[in-house]
Amino acid sequence: MRAAVIPASDAPPVCRDHPDPAPRHGELLVEVLAAGLHHLTRAKANGSHYSSGGGYPLVPGVDGVVRDEEGNLRYVVMDDTPLGTFAERTLIDPRRSVILPGGIDPVRIAAAMNPAMSSWVALRRRVGFHAGRRVLVLGATGNAGRMAVQIAKLFGAAQVIAAGRDTTRLKALTALGADETITYDQIGRAADVDVVIDYVWGEPAAGAMIPLLTARADRTAPLDWIQIGSIAGATAPIPSAALRSARLQIVGSGIGSVPARDFLAELPELASAVATGAIDVRARAVPLAQVAQAWTAETDDRIVLVP
Ligand SMILES: NC(=O)c1ccc[n+]([C@@H]2O[C@H](COP(=O)([O-])OP(=O)(O)OC[C@H]3O[C@@H](n4cnc5c(N)ncnc54)[C@H](OP(=O)(O)O)[C@@H]3O)[C@@H](O)[C@H]2O)c1
Repeated sequence: MRAAVIPASDAPPVCRDHPDPAPRHGELLVEVLAAGLHHLTRAKANGSHYSSGGGYPLVPGVDGVVRDEEGNLRYVVMDDTPLGTFAERTLIDPRRSVILPGGIDPVRIAAAMNPAMSSWVALRRRVGFHAGRRVLVLGATGNAGRMAVQIAKLFGAAQVIAAGRDTTRLKALTALGADETITYDQIGRAADVDVVIDYVWGEPAAGAMIPLLTARADRTAPLDWIQIGSIAGATAPIPSAALRSARLQIVGSGIGSVPARDFLAELPELASAVATGAIDVRARAVPLAQVAQAWTAETDDRIVLVP
């Protein structure tokens, strides 16, 4: 079969022949229809993600839409394995998959599930979110941020404020449900939110804390800051006063802080929300043969490799 193969941690993937996989006990041999190229895909493949397995050569691909031998379409989250979804066929643990409704667009699902899952699971499993809460999204113009805006609204948020760097891209979020859009130097306007969904971390997140916390009408009101992505920096110089001057609670949401069973339990409802169009998705299908160019491409769309 054809597969994208990464020979070493610092090497880009090449599309080449690869031995066909043979299922062992409990595994399903499946045909891959579409697999998203996410930040997690690259980080796991180059060894920089905390959940990276470390062995090479490897076939990347952390999730995707596959067809099993009975003809069911499934969305699957791969376990740590050297054979991912960037291949014509792969092996899956069916317990880490969900059967999709008929008539779905595999590319749309493959593009959406990883970025959408980040806020969906964070709000459902990491904080006691309920309708009527006010939410601030940091890094709202990215794929995950755009979906966080929509998912917070879907879950009944009373107000969603979208924060980012680019005012033109921010403006487009109003059509997706953002009540207000702000740049990081205007963060005081989001002072009274209940939840922060943070995709940036680094300087922008640390720099936003004091202006946001000190402008709160009631500093004793709980503020749940959910750390999800670190696109602006892996570390953030958080002032100690931030943790004392207001009722700030910082929690993370990702593989490890949320058990795999909790992620999996949320998949059917999320897949259905994506399939029915409740969440707007930016997807671009690219043939698997073009994986090397796609790997380093800069685009606002989520690239989805199609074998
Ligand atoms: N924990 C989880 O479950 C989970 C799941 C999915 C994603 N993530 C993480 O979440 C982050 C965002 O993912 P994504 O899929 O939304 O990525 P994306 O589509 O590539 O968007 C990233 C956004 O970040 C902004 N950005 C980039 N560099 C920045 C900087 N130095 N300072 C401030 N903003 C910056 C850019 O917005 P502007 O240029 O418009 O400002 C860009 O639109 C990544 O770190 C990803 O790994 C985590």
